[in-house]
Amino acid sequence: MHMKAVTYQGVRTIEVKEVPEPRIERPDDVIVRLTASGICGSDLHLVSGMVPDLPKDFVLGHEPLGIVEEVGPEVRHVKKGDRVVIPFNVSCGECFYCRHGLESQCDNANENAEVGAVFGFSEEGGGFPGAQAEYLRVPYGNYLPFRVPEDCELTDERLVLISDVLPTAYWSAENAGVKPGVTVVVLGCGPIGLATQKMCWLMGAERVIAVEAVDYRLDHARRTNRVDTVKFESPKETGYLIKEMTGGGADIVIDCVGMEAKMTPLEYVETMLKIQGGSLSALSTAVQAVRKGGVIQVTGLYGMRYNGFPYGDIYSRNVTLKGGLAPAVRYMPVVYDLMAQGRLDPADIVTHVMPLSEAKEGYEIFAKRKQHCIKVILRP
Ligand SMILES: NC(=O)c1ccc[n+]([C@@H]2O[C@H](COP(=O)([O-])OP(=O)(O)OC[C@H]3O[C@@H](n4cnc5c(N)ncnc54)[C@H](O)[C@@H]3O)[C@@H](O)[C@H]2O)c1
Ligand SMILES: [Zn+2]
Ligand SMILES: [Zn+2]
Repeated sequence: MHMKAVTYQGVRTIEVKEVPEPRIERPDDVIVRLTASGICGSDLHLVSGMVPDLPKDFVLGHEPLGIVEEVGPEVRHVKKGDRVVIPFNVSCGECFYCRHGLESQCDNANENAEVGAVFGFSEEGGGFPGAQAEYLRVPYGNYLPFRVPEDCELTDERLVLISDVLPTAYWSAENAGVKPGVTVVVLGCGPIGLATQKMCWLMGAERVIAVEAVDYRLDHARRTNRVDTVKFESPKETGYLIKEMTGGGADIVIDCVGMEAKMTPLEYVETMLKIQGGSLSALSTAVQAVRKGGVIQVTGLYGMRYNGFPYGDIYSRNVTLKGGLAPAVRYMPVVYDLMAQGRLDPADIVTHVMPLSEAKEGYEIFAKRKQHCIKVILRP
């Protein structure tokens, strides 16, 4: 049996192709028939060749919402017909890391590397085929699926954000230590940045300042999140401006941009020559914008090693640097409850809903920032 899926075909090339349908391979596997599947900023990093070793025909995507189609003999947690959200982390729920708040670094799920596993994220990410497809094999079926309550009235466009955007945003703010009274700078107004701004308000921040390089996204943040906004110019200029606005720097800076930030000409040449792993402009801005003794939370993706990393500035000003892959599994019920209680509504983040067959256009619109796009959801 075959199904349609979004496949990687080489740098900046994807194609919707027929691939073999997944099957139950282990007794605790679940097969989910997908009803919605997000395109994430991380998918852009993958497709642009920033992450090495992505095999041809690899199925992309790690933001799944769907209906349970089939369960293995050991699955008790869900049954056929259940509506489920699957987190982007593949994780076992039982190892040291899963039991200690870090299922994004699960010891058992990734046989290919010493890091945690993610659906649709190449060999490095554990080799699990992704969710931009008609069906998904979900391992650890007694741990990973979040069962949507039957009386839930939230739309698919909101629920699909429980797989990655909302838990990542919640964790980013919490891990950074956002609490009543703090001033937070959020770098980036893509889906992750916008959702993180909402979480900062929910956790009691006194002031939230959003930084972005693209005008319509800055407008979107101002309109929907009531944040102060700063147009990104350069790490130095933007950092200086924020120091002025905050009287010495923000308590917390959250980088929701990652290595594909606007590059300097030198970074561009170095990256082409493969002696630089992308841009440090967001991280450098964070270092400039944070106050002495403040915290930088790095949520944006950095996959390689970097020249010119500003560690001296971090050290000499007693700045704490945190970050990594969000442990999404534990936050799924948390963000669901916030939405069910009406305290959080992320509907503004989803600007495009398209059929899976039009994924190529979806990627193009998202990557090139066309039609005021923030986030694209594919419907298989
Ligand atoms: N840590 C995790 O677990 C996790 C989970 C999901 C996504 N991510 C990462 O988070 C990042 C954001 O994801 P997204 O879906 O919102 O992506 P996105 O590409 O839509 O958003 C990034 C935004 O940053 C802006 N930007 C570029 N350079 C900038 C700069 N120097 N200063 C300020 N803004 C700048 C871009 O214009 C863009 O709007 C990506 O790197 C993604 O890989 C991490
Ligand atoms: Zn993601
Ligand atoms: Zn584990």
